[in-house]
Amino acid sequence: MDNMEQLVAAAAAEFALAAEPAKLEEAKARYLGKDGSLTALLKGLGKLPPEERKIAGAAINAAKIKVENALTARREELRRAQLEAQLAAEALDVTLPGRGQTRGTLHPVIRSLERIEQLFRSIGFEVADGPEIETDWHNFTALNTPANHPARSMHDTFYLLDESGKVQQDVLLRTHTSPVQVRHMLAHVAKYKHLDVMPEIRVIAPGRVYRVDSDATHSPMFHQVEGLWVGENVSFADLKGVVADFLRRFFESDDLKVRFRPSFFPFTEPSAEIDVAFMSGAMEGRWLEIAGCGMVHPNVLRFGGIDPEKYTGFAFGMGPDRLTMLRYGINDLRLFFDGDLRFLSQFQ
Ligand code: FA5
Ligand code: MG
Repeated sequence: MDNMEQLVAAAAAEFALAAEPAKLEEAKARYLGKDGSLTALLKGLGKLPPEERKIAGAAINAAKIKVENALTARREELRRAQLEAQLAAEALDVTLPGRGQTRGTLHPVIRSLERIEQLFRSIGFEVADGPEIETDWHNFTALNTPANHPARSMHDTFYLLDESGKVQQDVLLRTHTSPVQVRHMLAHVAKYKHLDVMPEIRVIAPGRVYRVDSDATHSPMFHQVEGLWVGENVSFADLKGVVADFLRRFFESDDLKVRFRPSFFPFTEPSAEIDVAFMSGAMEGRWLEIAGCGMVHPNVLRFGGIDPEKYTGFAFGMGPDRLTMLRYGINDLRLFFDGDLRFLSQFQ
């Protein structure tokens, strides 16, 4: 039966040409489907005489099995090809080197702040906090700087606008950490009002402050650490001792050059500013102001609910950004806030 062999060969050739499963199923239908050629041959068997029918039937069935085998083989081939194409497309190159993980580090100013907190805790100071959006009363009035007082212009302040764009009269971005002095005094007095003798106040208040300032030693956002010690017989000598001892420990140097320079603040009397000389770098020997300080003005104690006849105190407000400049010999503090990792990663 030559034509059976031809039919099998033709089917196998068509299957081989089918490049995708749908085409293969169409080719299958042409041979094995309801109207397929093999199906038609099987249907035609009934018209043959019985002796021929047997031989022809066996031949057709043998051909059908061959066609079915060819179909199964081609289906498998197509499935494998598809899988290989998918694997190639989704290739994962496990030989590619990793990106490496760089370790984060603390910002140099944050390191200084942690160091400052640690050193003051070691001499019995607690650490307090205050809001960065502050009331005019806490930032100025309670610090003996009433409205329209010329000393307000010492701080070039960022005010806040209300919804209609008008300057809000009663709130601002705090220009220093000194408002925490009054907040802390009021809270302290309230906390211990049941006692006959008020325990001493010994507190520092680190945080961010804001002024319209920008040059190598001034940033519009910077940090301050307020210090306050109130008790009986606290003196200017105590202020000098605490600050000088702190600075020697902070810079790990006994021959640090420090000077107290007479100055003015409405909220202290007498007042001074504290300068430290660079010990290294391009600025070696040059003085840099690091803090303002003085004896707390009696009016400020009164605003804090404390009797100035009974208690005295000292306060200081220092700039940890400036301390960090001095510690590492950096001559422009704006570098700390530019976010350039080439600079920041040198402090690991
Ligand atoms: C004050 O802000 C006072 N509140 C300090 C004070 C507190 C005096 C308690 C008395 C009693 P002054 O404006 O000098 O003072 O700022 C204090 C310190 O903050 C400066 O010595 C300096 O180290 C730092 N500082 C001030 N302005 C900037 C700025 N724009 N950028 C970085 N640091 C600054
Ligand atoms: Mg100053």
